[in-house]
Amino acid sequence: MSHTLTILDVRDRIHQARSVTVLTGAGISADSGVPTFRGTDGLWKNYRAEELASPDAFARDPKLVWEWYNWRRELVATKRPNAAHEALVKLEQRIERFWLITQNVDGLHPLAGSQQLSEIHGNIWKVRCTQCERFWPNRDLPLVYPPICAHCPGLLRPHIVWFGESLAPEDLTRSYQALQDCEILLIIGTSGVVYPAASFAPIAKDGGALVVELNLEPTPNSPVVDLSFHGRAKDLVPLLLQTV
Ligand code: OAD
Repeated sequence: MSHTLTILDVRDRIHQARSVTVLTGAGISADSGVPTFRGTDGLWKNYRAEELASPDAFARDPKLVWEWYNWRRELVATKRPNAAHEALVKLEQRIERFWLITQNVDGLHPLAGSQQLSEIHGNIWKVRCTQCERFWPNRDLPLVYPPICAHCPGLLRPHIVWFGESLAPEDLTRSYQALQDCEILLIIGTSGVVYPAASFAPIAKDGGALVVELNLEPTPNSPVVDLSFHGRAKDLVPLLLQTV
């Protein structure tokens, strides 16, 4: 007789696990009021994220790209971590080997208290010089255009991994290690269409992990994972991790 895993079984498995890896996307921040990228509320002045978050877009019209990031920074500045972010902080504290890989650039995971994490797409609260490559935190609201480097005449850009750019090698290495090493991978609120994160589910599965997806709806990851739960991250994550 085949046995279908329930949320209680997954809870038990997490309870006993020594290594858990979590991958998050914009869906976890949606419950804090941050628009997702591919949802209808994610459009800004009718541009899609792909049309603004790229080196080409920045080379063509840096002012426009900064206007978009200023809009997102103003918006994110008013938002707080939600119960899902908080549940992951508690999980990190009780699991021997825990790693959080987030595609989110809003900084809500570190704000909630997550420490064992890679922000693989960067952080909206950091800027980087396009000439000397130095980067540092910046919370100016708005960031007045054109922002110029403190060390050279270079124009500053958001410290974010744009479409067509590579992830930082140390983030990739740490993420692959966490995916290959984990007993359980939780995938929370990502559409699963942006690489390399879109390839993380099969990597963890090949390594023998139980892979569980939490999302409002089915995604391209769904056929690969062992189990999908549908609902809002702020409800499902605390329920699964027993923090409610
Ligand atoms: P997307 O906007 O592509 O997908 C958001 C996912 O979250 C969708 O699958 C939704 O169904 C799901 N979702 C929405 N609300 C939810 C909720 N309350 N609870 C649970 N799930 C919910 O965002 P990402 O997958 O994160 O890159 O996108 C990946 C990358 O593409 C982003 O990091 C960003 C973007 O362009 C950069 O900023 C560089």
